[in-house]
Amino acid sequence: MCGIVGYVGSRDATPLLVNGLRRLEYRGYDSAGVAIQENGGLEIRRAEGKLDNLVRVIAERPLSGRSGIGHTRWATHGRPSEQNAHPHVDCGAVTAVIHNGIIENFHDLKAPLVEAGHRFSSETDTEVVVHLVEQELAQGRTLDEAALRVLPQLEGAAALAFISVKDPGKIVAARISNAGAVIVGYGEGESFIASDIPALLEHTRRMSFLDPGELAVVTATGVTFRRLEDGAPVEKAVQDIQWDLVSAAKSGYKHFMLKEIYEQPRVVSDTLIGRVERESGRVAFDDDLKLTDAQVKGLRRLTLLGCGTAGYAALAGKYLIERLARIPCDVEIPSEYRYREPVVVPDQLVVALTQSGETVDTLAAMQEAKRQGARLLSFVNVMGSQATRLSDDVIYLHAGPEISVASTKAYTAMLVDLYLFAIFLGQRRGTLGKEKAAKLLADAFHLPTLIDALLQEEPRIRALAYRYHQARDFLFLGRGMNYPTALEGAHKLKELSYSHAEGTAAGEMKHGINALIDESLPVVAIALQDSTYRKMRSNIQEVRARAGVVIALASDGDEEIEGQADEIVRVPDTNELLSPALAVLPLHLFAYHVADRRGNDVDQPRNLAKSVTVE
Ligand code: G6P
Repeated sequence: MCGIVGYVGSRDATPLLVNGLRRLEYRGYDSAGVAIQENGGLEIRRAEGKLDNLVRVIAERPLSGRSGIGHTRWATHGRPSEQNAHPHVDCGAVTAVIHNGIIENFHDLKAPLVEAGHRFSSETDTEVVVHLVEQELAQGRTLDEAALRVLPQLEGAAALAFISVKDPGKIVAARISNAGAVIVGYGEGESFIASDIPALLEHTRRMSFLDPGELAVVTATGVTFRRLEDGAPVEKAVQDIQWDLVSAAKSGYKHFMLKEIYEQPRVVSDTLIGRVERESGRVAFDDDLKLTDAQVKGLRRLTLLGCGTAGYAALAGKYLIERLARIPCDVEIPSEYRYREPVVVPDQLVVALTQSGETVDTLAAMQEAKRQGARLLSFVNVMGSQATRLSDDVIYLHAGPEISVASTKAYTAMLVDLYLFAIFLGQRRGTLGKEKAAKLLADAFHLPTLIDALLQEEPRIRALAYRYHQARDFLFLGRGMNYPTALEGAHKLKELSYSHAEGTAAGEMKHGINALIDESLPVVAIALQDSTYRKMRSNIQEVRARAGVVIALASDGDEEIEGQADEIVRVPDTNELLSPALAVLPLHLFAYHVADRRGNDVDQPRNLAKSVTVE
């Protein structure tokens, strides 16, 4: 949510910032802007809408300089407009700020500034910060000293970066709270900042991650870190990031989403590699997971947390863990969990699922659980992210950079990791026999081949999407392991196509949803030959009896279903517990093609963003 970048070095900053913003545009696309230090002055270019608009503005009025900051916005305070676009400047236009997050007390801070004669030119909460810094700089302070005096006054959530011609050749960046990562990248005679790893990969793999309450003073020759609370110096580790640039590029695909769907055979292989001990056949997560066998045996309850797509993975996780490890599990919406005075019992493990590791609702719920004494485990894709640092244990998803706002490969990686984790728990608690575990694992190792086979069906799913792309409403039905899949299928269609879609447990239809069914409603029914098959078949009959159009996801070789549905999409056979990782694929492709057919921006759906760093 809002992307920030910064550069200081000997190269021209403008193209570097624009390229960095290009890689962060998934974080917000309401406006974009840059501020560059040029010949002792500060030049600003900003434009409403997508980054291409800013590129046009820069082409009309070029600017160059050796340091600068850039921003891509997801609007919170103040509508999307050029006037509200970041960077924001002080009265003399000598200092600029970019911001990701919300400053909750900006009204209180603004009033005395207005009284003191400061002129505000935007409706944002952000602008107040640069005027506060202006006051401090007027006292002869350096930019970092000014920031250290101003930032503790802010309440809310913020990642910020400043430059000023009063203290040239320097970027000061800070992370006030959980919301909004700030990453520093180290180059040769140059340094970078960004809110996400892909913006820096082109230049360096050596990075440091700011913790909440820290500030970085970034110059071409080095970076120092300080604590916001008292200005004390902080030592930060430099991490070597393994992601490569190719995996953060579109590589010939029309959209990142399609590319990420096609990466799934590799993602699943990477997820499985090294996680099964050859001798014992036991799942092991190596040093990611420090939970001892005794602690696993003593677990009394698990709470799984996740927002959006990660929340549906959490629900699948509950089904898996309860089936294989017999531990009671709850699934919680993080934004609810945090505020409803949840109860944490002794020996409870709270499991957070988050691709970015930066979703602020998830982080806040984790903190609440920790405050009450829970042990925290997170399943996270982005190394070094805040969720990994809050957690006692981390299981890394091996999905590689996920750029499309709509999550696909990270969802599949979560499902497979949860499947492994459930086996891991079952093996250690003695609820899962050796033979059954071996069969479950063999099926997992066969999954990449099955995903590959299913991807061959894309033309058929595209044709289906084109046939139904004008429908206004859709219903997705599933049961058991594929109830979460139905929810995820509906979710994806909503966020990408802007159609109304509802996912439900098929058993619930008779309690209300049936009233919606008529000949204009396509109903996607996940009817694989598993323990819920007969019941799903009955539900399909109920839909047909009310003239609904049935699109069935059916097992390969299921002949009984022929003639029972208007459309049939075949899904290769695997065991029931693993089937969500296959069944979701046609649903992701369906949502993709409906949205693309409608001419929507698939990778950047309206009003949404990846890494949601506001509550
Ligand atoms: C946003 C994205 C979703 C994602 C959710 C959770 O809403 O648009 O695609 O599922 O955040 O993100 P996380 O990074 O915590 O998995």
